[in-house]
Amino acid sequence: SSVAAFVAALPKVELHLHLVGSASLDTVLTLARRHPDGGVPTDRDELRRFYAFTDFPHFLDVYRRVNLLVNTGADVVTLLDGLAAELATRAVRYAEVQVAPVRNHMAGIGYADLAAALTDGRALARERHGVELGWVFDADATLGPEGAEETVDFAVDHRPEGTVAIGLGGAELGVRRADFAPAFRRAVEAGLHSAPHAGETVGPDEVWAAVTELGAERIGHGIGAAGDPRLLEHLAEHGIPLEVCPTSNLRTAAVRDIAEHPLPALVAAGVPVTLATDDPGMFHTDLNAEYLLCHEVFDMGIAELAEIARTGARAAFCPPALRDEII
Ligand code: ADE
Ligand code: ZN
Repeated sequence: SSVAAFVAALPKVELHLHLVGSASLDTVLTLARRHPDGGVPTDRDELRRFYAFTDFPHFLDVYRRVNLLVNTGADVVTLLDGLAAELATRAVRYAEVQVAPVRNHMAGIGYADLAAALTDGRALARERHGVELGWVFDADATLGPEGAEETVDFAVDHRPEGTVAIGLGGAELGVRRADFAPAFRRAVEAGLHSAPHAGETVGPDEVWAAVTELGAERIGHGIGAAGDPRLLEHLAEHGIPLEVCPTSNLRTAAVRDIAEHPLPALVAAGVPVTLATDDPGMFHTDLNAEYLLCHEVFDMGIAELAEIARTGARAAFCPPALRDEII
């Protein structure tokens, strides 16, 4: 359709995707065959079925296992090369990649090696694919406040070029955003932006906590804000963007039916909304598909889709010159 052609050519940024979750099926198969005992299928059809998630905890368990297959700096560079190639084909000029250093370290990558691999992969993305990358270091709430402190240590001690923010993925049930306030405070004092996940699988309270306790300048998902008019007003008034990932929400069963996704309500409330893929390799999606979903399911037209792309560029933690080029 003409909308598909418009979206394909539209210069975009992507502000929410996880490094390991972006790995293609082929890449994960290669890694899995190196570790046949790692609990990740070595057969293509089985891997597809492995990526059929029954609920959010199930998704997190699969994500954890695939993370453990990424053992070397060379693996990280391979993932970044594949990711940048994919982004370039979708007219994505700038992306912020969530990297969980403690998870990579648990898989056997030393912190200095990780920092060097990120620097090499970023140069390669720029030179080979024309894509600029920034890093959001995901403290992964599943690893607790201690893991968050270790994440901030990595970001502050190594600070690879392109470091822009501290993030907080992982579990929401049974953990509180507020417990991560000391780590976030230290990261912000060191000059990092604050971009935690909040309200992906829980309601508005944790989104409030992300704003008031973690100083969130942007929020990953944030769809749980939809039930709280006062919170929506706060996000709109303070211009705190939500990185909305509709296909992810459907695949992890955070949302039961895409027709009931709160995205249109968030936009209608005046909240800045950007679109992202989260874990495109695991959710079988790409950024153009997310834009087209908004056209097909929410009846958004070309003007609304272009506005979402501009909102993303404005919300990016990138140099202003690059932002202006994209807008
Ligand atoms: N890590 C990778 N993908 C994630 C998601 N959708 N939510 C929380 N943590 C994640
Ligand atoms: Zn995420």
